[in-house]
Formats: sequence, structure tokens, C-alpha cells
Amino acid sequence: MSKNIESILTESRVFELSDEIKSGFGLSVEDIDAMRKDAAEDHVGFWSKLAKEKLHWNKPFTVGLDDSNAPHYKWFTDGELNVSYNCIDRHLETKSDKLAIIFEGDRGDVEHYTYKELHDNVCRFANTLQAQGVEKGDRVIIYMPMIPQAVIAMQACARIGAIHSVVFGGFSAEALRDRIEDAGAKLVITTNGSRRGGKTISLKHAVDDALEKGCEQVKRVIVYRRTDDEVPMHEGRDIDWMEAEAGMSNYHDPVAVDAEHPLFLLYTSGSTGKPKGVQHSSGGYLLNAHLTNEWMFDLNDDDVFWCTADVGWITGHSYVAYGPLSVGATMLMFEGVPTYPDAGRFWQVCQDHGVTVFYTAPTAIRALMKFGADLPNQYDLSKLRLLGTVGEPINPEAWMWYHDVIGKQRCPIIDTWWQTETGAHMIAPFPVTPLKPGSCTQPIPGIDAVILDEEGNELHGNEGGLLAIKKPWPSMIRNVWGDDERYRSTYFPLAGKPYYVVGDSAHRDEDGYFWILGRVDDVLNVSGHRLGTMEIESALVSHPQVAEAAVVGRPHDVKGEAVAAFVVLNVDIPEGDARDKLVQELRNWVAKEIGPIAKPDDIRFGTNLPKTRSGKIMRRLLRTIAKGEEITQDTSTLEDPTILDQFQQKA
Ligand code: PRX
Repeated sequence: MSKNIESILTESRVFELSDEIKSGFGLSVEDIDAMRKDAAEDHVGFWSKLAKEKLHWNKPFTVGLDDSNAPHYKWFTDGELNVSYNCIDRHLETKSDKLAIIFEGDRGDVEHYTYKELHDNVCRFANTLQAQGVEKGDRVIIYMPMIPQAVIAMQACARIGAIHSVVFGGFSAEALRDRIEDAGAKLVITTNGSRRGGKTISLKHAVDDALEKGCEQVKRVIVYRRTDDEVPMHEGRDIDWMEAEAGMSNYHDPVAVDAEHPLFLLYTSGSTGKPKGVQHSSGGYLLNAHLTNEWMFDLNDDDVFWCTADVGWITGHSYVAYGPLSVGATMLMFEGVPTYPDAGRFWQVCQDHGVTVFYTAPTAIRALMKFGADLPNQYDLSKLRLLGTVGEPINPEAWMWYHDVIGKQRCPIIDTWWQTETGAHMIAPFPVTPLKPGSCTQPIPGIDAVILDEEGNELHGNEGGLLAIKKPWPSMIRNVWGDDERYRSTYFPLAGKPYYVVGDSAHRDEDGYFWILGRVDDVLNVSGHRLGTMEIESALVSHPQVAEAAVVGRPHDVKGEAVAAFVVLNVDIPEGDARDKLVQELRNWVAKEIGPIAKPDDIRFGTNLPKTRSGKIMRRLLRTIAKGEEITQDTSTLEDPTILDQFQQKA
């Protein structure tokens, strides 16, 4: 168990919010309890009422939930809407001059977009996509840095009913190619490069490499020029964003789609070697993205909301590109990194743009905490009123630092538990809920979270078990793109039982508060990024000198988890410099196959993996070795116990 999780398990403090904070929020604890009661009495009616109230429907729905093909649930099926209309057009009458996006670039350059300007940009680009032959239902890959054009591209796809799949700019050409092929995308939108941490990074080259082999269905690449770098443009395939957009109208009639029409695919890691395309709907997804921005972040007209997540992850979809706009808020986008030009950058951005609600990951908090309180204390953070966290369990030490140093003991910490597949927050406090450091508190109204034992029986006491969701909810994953069977077996593995099984272990305390303890499957959480151990193993074994590999997570103070790889070579294990060289080569190999985030921190060599006589790899032992702990487990079932000595030597 890591130090972070150990301290979560021993936490007992409760923080009541001040009356000032509570009275500023439109809902009281009693109102929230009443909503929970309503949802318990009429689950479908509860969600349907909210869907009617919060979203604009071109054609109102009459069916709340269609569970005739469970677990492929459908919500609001016969309704029609347009997500981009809901995020932009419906605010124009009252908020056309209100800022929709504040952008700060890596070098401190600032841009502002009002709702009207965002509308015009999205319309022009929607017209551009249609002029390039993109139609409703076509898949479009977006491989871009954190600049407003990424959101404009996403919104433009939504406007014409095209299904986007954003690929994080840190993924390699190989990873990009897999996603383009799996999605069957017709068009790719990218930039010549991006600016991060004072450097320029090329993105277009990765697109060129990805498209070199296969991907025949991609007919067009639209390239936005973010940097001054010249990049090769392929005649007949590549087109400059500005040229493509020239002469396009600022008006575009949004295409109304069925509530179930896929809004986007987002690839995420699971317990197999191949990432899966999580398919989200239009109506149900937008409802929960909208509601949770209202409920958890209380976004009002004078707020400036900054979610630091990249649009390449689900957080950047629900809390950058869609949710904040749907509620008509002002949101901030930042292109750079937290430590450039120094580790005060986040706090400088908060100060300069008057950020009121700030949402980031525990790994960022832990990394910045290392630099002490002096840096944040140099900035005026008095506008901050709510602080959020997401991505991994937050250890109480980091929670307290965030609360004391950044929030000056004034701002509630909104610890939000959810996943790519859930679309939006599932277990999280409202800004009136008493808080416990390290707990994401209680399920939001309409979310029926339970704890199961290994056999799938519900546990009602305080013991730990598998976290599961008992009833469908509007923003849930609809399918694994093109793979119904994988959807069913991954998320609904308990035959005949309706539980969506999350993949996390958790326990619930006597107040009904949930404490997430981490993944129970072969998924790692490195700096809040989800990585499959098998994905990294497949990358390693594709190296010509690697015969076999096993990857496990090892606790890491800042990253939460680090990647440790145990490798069997098909050549002799090199010594000295040659060994160091091979370690470096394998790390770079993984970066090339997946992306730098998946680089193993630790690579060890042995002549075989520790296996039982029946050939099963004993990962438990590998985890102990990776932690540098003494082996106390029974090793008598091992085929060759001497292997352990080899792996205990660090490369
Ligand atoms: O293990 C949980 C962890 O992140 C996983 C989901 O990862 P991903 O799909 O990449 O989405 C991350 C952003 C929503 C979960 O299964 N996780 C996420 N939020 C929390 C968390 N663990 C503990 N506390 C959280 N607040």
C-alpha cells in the first residue's frame, strides 16, 4: 500500500463549510437530500425532468429511458437536439458580449472570445468541415494542443453531427494511427506545432507518420498554424485552416441529431493491449456535463472557471469544451505547463485572470507543494472560491496544502470521482457538503453507487470492496466503438446483474462517504493518466530484443504511480554501459509506441519472469520487488525462485 493510500485510510477530520460559502450556493443540504429522495422514488422521472429543464430540445423527448437492449441503455431516445446550439447559440440573446473563453498561451499571450465571437468561429469552421465533405456521423480526429481552436473544432463537429475523437497531443504517431484506424476517421485536424514550457513541439510530423501506413480513409488534414515553424504540406491532402476557412459564413444552421447520436469517441486504456473507444451520446452526456458544472462548481455569471485538464482527456471534454459553455460560464484555457517559467505559473494565471473556480489533479498539487508556500503567497488568490480535484485519490497532506495555502482555508475542496466512461462527476460534494480530506464524499443525486464483494453481492457495512453503479445514468458510456461484446464483458461482467462495474476498489464509512482506494484491474494511474499494463507490455515486446515483459505500478510520491517493467530479453543481458544504453532505448521505444507518459521509470532484466508451475506470472511478487520491499509472500509455487534475485538488482 502506498503512503498516500495509507494516510487516506487513517483520516478522520471533518470540515464544515462556512455559512458564507453555504449561503452563496442556491441549494442547501436539505434540498440535495430531497433530490436524492426524488431520484430514489422515480429514477427515470428525476433525470427526465432535469433534461427538459436544462437542455434545449429541437424535438422534445417522450421516452426517458429505453432499457429494452440493456446494458446498451438509451436515454431521451425520441428527442432531438444540437449540442453546439446548447453550448453557444442559446446564450446569444443574453450573453453575446460575455467572455466564453479566456486563453493564455505558453509565452503569456492572451486572447479573449465572447460568446458571439465563439459562435462566429464555430460556425465558420462548421461550414469549412462541411465544405471539406464531412457529414453527420463521420469521424474526425482532433490532435491539437490546448488552444481555443481545439474547442472550436470540437464544437464545430458537434454542430454538424460529426463524431470527434480527440487524441491527446502527447500520444505518439503509432498511438494516433491506432485511434484513426479504429475510429475509421475521414479527416484529421491538427496544428503545425504547440508551445509548451518555452519550447515548440511539432504535432504535424506525428500526423504525417501516422498516415504513412494504412489510414487510407483519411482524405483531408486541416492544419492550424500555432507556431512559426514550417511543416511539409501534402499536396491534395493537407490544407491550411485559415485558407480552408476563407470566405466561409459566420452563420451555420446547427444539425439537430437524435439524443443518442454519438457526440464523441474517446480512447482510454483498459486491461487489454488495445485502448478502447468510449462512445458517448449527445443528450445524456450533455445533461450530466451541464448539471455537474452547476452543482459541483456552482458556476455563475461572474465566475471565471479554470480546469487545467487537456482536451485530450475526458475532463477536458466535460469541464472545458462542453459543460462550462452549456451553463454559459466564462472558462479559461491555458496552453503551457505549471512549472514554466517557474512553479508559480498556475497562481500567476489565477491572479491575472481573476479565476474564481480552479480544478486540477492531485499530482499537480503534490508537484507544486514541493516548491513550498512562498511562491503561491506572492500572488493574489483572493478571487478563488472553490477548488476542485480529479483523477486519483488525493492524499490528505495534499488536500490540506491545497486547502490552507491555495484556498486560505476559505475554499471548499471539491474532490470529484468519475471516469472517462461515466462522462461526468459521479461521487462528489456540492459546495455545501461537509468535507473529509481524501474522500470524494457522496454520490450525486440520481447516481446509485454500491460496494460489492468478489461474488457481486452488495455490502452494506463499512468494509471495502468493488465500486459499482446499480442503475443506468444519462451520461454513461454507450458502447466500446464497434465492439458490443467488449462493452458488455468489461463493464457488466456479473451475468444477470445490472451493475456497471467501475474497476476501482472503495469503502463507504458510517456517514455514507466513499473513499476510493485505486484500481483493481491492470490499469495504472500515472500522474492522473490512465495506462494499461498490457498496453505497455505489448509496446515492449514489439522491440526486437525483448522476448517477454511484465509491467506493474509502484507507488510514487508525486505521480501517484510509476511504471516498473520486468523484461526478458532474447539476447544475453548486457552489462555496464550497454545495459544503461538498452534501458534508455527501451524507454524511448515505449515513448515512440505510446507516448512519453508511458515511459517506464524502472526497467529490470531477468532470464525469465517469476511464474508458477502452471505458467502464471506472479505480479504480486513483482509489485513487492518494484517497491523495493522484502519478499514475505510464499514463493514455493514458483517455477524458478532464483529469478527473483535477478530482478531485485536495479538496472
Ligand atoms: O481510479 C479512478 C481514478 O481515475 C480513474 C478514471 O480514469 P480516467 O477514465 O482517465 O478519468 C480520469 C478523470 C475523470 C478512476 O477509475 N479517479 C478519478 N477521479 C478520482 C479517482 N480516484 C480517486 N479519487 C478521484 N477523485
